[in-house]
Amino acid sequence: AKSLKTFEGIQFETYLDEGDKAERLGKWLLEVSWEVANKVGGIHQVIKSKVPITKKEYGPNYLLLGPYNESFVKQEVEIRESSLRPVRETVQSMQSHGINVIQGYWLIEGYPQVILFDIGSAAHRLDEWKGDFFEYSRIGIPYHDKEANDALIFGFCVFWFIGTFIEQLKHDELRYVTAHFHEWLSGVGLVMARMRGYDCALVFTTHATLLGRYLCAGSTDFYNRLSSFNLDMEAGNRQIYHRYCLERAAASCAHVFTTVSKITGIEAEHLLHKRPDVLTPNGLNVKEFAALHEFQNLHAQNKEKLHAFVRGHFYGHYDFDLDKTLYFFIAGRYEFSNKGADMFIEALARLNHMLKSINSDVTVVAFLIFPTATNNYNIESLRGQSVAKMLRDSVQSVQSEIGKRLYEVCLRGSIPSSDQIFHSSDMIDLRKSIYATQRSSLPPICTHNVVDDGIDPILCNLRRCQLFNYRSDRVKVIFHPEFLRSTSPLLPLDYEEFVRGCHLGVFPSYYEPWGYTPAECTVMGVPSITTNLSGFGCFMEEHLVDSQDYGIYIVDRRYKSAEESCHQLAEYMFSFSQITRRQRILLRNRTERLSELLDWNTLGIYYHKARQLALKRIHPEFDEELNRITFELEQLLAPFSTQVSQQPSRSTTPAPSSPDDDEDEDADKHHIPITLARPASTKKFIGFKSSSESLDANEVDDDEII
Ligand code: UDP
Ligand code: G6P
Ligand code: GLC
Repeated sequence: AKSLKTFEGIQFETYLDEGDKAERLGKWLLEVSWEVANKVGGIHQVIKSKVPITKKEYGPNYLLLGPYNESFVKQEVEIRESSLRPVRETVQSMQSHGINVIQGYWLIEGYPQVILFDIGSAAHRLDEWKGDFFEYSRIGIPYHDKEANDALIFGFCVFWFIGTFIEQLKHDELRYVTAHFHEWLSGVGLVMARMRGYDCALVFTTHATLLGRYLCAGSTDFYNRLSSFNLDMEAGNRQIYHRYCLERAAASCAHVFTTVSKITGIEAEHLLHKRPDVLTPNGLNVKEFAALHEFQNLHAQNKEKLHAFVRGHFYGHYDFDLDKTLYFFIAGRYEFSNKGADMFIEALARLNHMLKSINSDVTVVAFLIFPTATNNYNIESLRGQSVAKMLRDSVQSVQSEIGKRLYEVCLRGSIPSSDQIFHSSDMIDLRKSIYATQRSSLPPICTHNVVDDGIDPILCNLRRCQLFNYRSDRVKVIFHPEFLRSTSPLLPLDYEEFVRGCHLGVFPSYYEPWGYTPAECTVMGVPSITTNLSGFGCFMEEHLVDSQDYGIYIVDRRYKSAEESCHQLAEYMFSFSQITRRQRILLRNRTERLSELLDWNTLGIYYHKARQLALKRIHPEFDEELNRITFELEQLLAPFSTQVSQQPSRSTTPAPSSPDDDEDEDADKHHIPITLARPASTKKFIGFKSSSESLDANEVDDDEII
């Protein structure tokens, strides 16, 4: 029951009951992050999506440690005592000292065990712990930085937990504990565990550097000046010196340090003075998004929901053809220039001009989804939806009356005349509703009342670029300053449904260590635009011969000026707006095929590698023990495994690997097959097609365009 996987030259043996091996070996993994059972940004996706493969390797010996967020826990965590004695006793011991530690199971695929620390319950220890931390690390945390204070309390709770937990294991014959920490917010626990010399392999993954994020958010020429920053001064000027020291301490105290991409690795080398030991690119749990051949239908269904919203939002100005309307979007945490919202708006203005100048009948509706402080929805947006609903209801009632009359007349055997069917009262009802759809104002560019309306960067830039949703505009814009949710009275879709309904995700980031948003688009079969300054963009550029053929457009923000990059972005969007429906369908099929490349089943190997390396660094005998246990288990499994035919090696390419994929293949049958063509000597594992092939509409079978 063993399948052998090869990825970048590493042999990754996956046993069906790998968890069993971990238990015999006394191998434990404690993964620590502020985003365990708590959603902020992309790190949440890393933790959550990685659970199934990590559980496969560690079985019950996998624990996730995070802060206690009551509202999240109510919805997604089953509070229950751990089934494992050392965990239970560690929790009880901390509880007996007044710390509120919650044990439970996260209700996601893999059902992992979570240990959550209630920061408030330990707040009274803050000053004492600050003193301890200073004594060990010489890093002082100022009282006014609430986030850093919370990080310190969280870090000490984690440190306490690990110490007690290891103590509980002290009589176990074998004991290999790894604690994997993510991002500076979890750094205190790591630094303390190292300072106190705990018998625990420490891995630190950074998903960005603090200074990098701050420097890029300003107007610094970040990438060209990377090697010449006066780090202490830059951190001091931004009042993040203590945070920066903490991040740097965590990176250097770790036995193994990793970053999520090459570009962030280079950044860490300069800004943290630490080169990553391993790069750990982010994967996704592709199964969660997999809709097999349904993803095209899902696009059509969710696009209908967007149409319904657009009909209401643009009431009175609804003079464009929805069948020729394309939905573009940008979404993420509100970091205006880091996420490239500045460039997106500028390029939309250019796209508007380009479409107008060719008298295009295509309309682009661009959504900008970035949460910021608001005083709820604005009246005009709500009114739009209710006006559309009123009109729909009036039409439905007239329609039903007409139907009844028509039936009556026909039953009597006479040929219906128009006055018998359509009464003047119907027209009055309809008139009332039609007049209500007239408006003197333009359709709003924002769905909410933004608190800082006058200085909000998106609103200011939309105004500067004159993107006001005029009738003549071919590019309409809608800023939705809140993350999406299916319970919204305005746009009742969750983020995944929204993405599926759109045609193109646009993420022209300037600072993006990885960037889940385009990766998520890819596995849902939605083409996207990214940049060569994002970890994801660079990864795709490295592994695909011509990413454009797969619906991944990479804007060059590294070697081009801002003006040139913006022009390139506008050109990409313009070209996309000119392709036919057939071509879009084909492109979505190709995009979706890249899913396997982004699956944790492929990328999980790097996390595995980082952990093994850390264990070997503190336990040189670890390999021998591992081999011994593996051998024992193989002996045990031998009689069974002979009955099970050996699985073939899995392809690491996105090529269709099962007969089920044949349908997709039909849609793209003249396409050069996507095969694993990696010469043993090279690192590149994908030998994609030649770039000369065009997006030829004839490649699509007619029966796919339903
Ligand atoms: N996201 C979301 N709702 C939205 C927009 C974005 O849940 O309306 C999620 C998205 O699915 C992604 C994360 O926010 O997983 C953003 O991660 P990314 O790595 O792109 O950026 P980060 O915020 O971590 O810098
Ligand atoms: C999917 C559906 C088709 C639909 C198409 C619209 O492929 O299966 O029935 O025609 O989407 O694509 P478009 O890019 O125009 O939204
Ligand atoms: C960070 C980065 C983002 C990355 C995410 C997960 O928040 O900003 O680019 O995708 O972490 O690694």
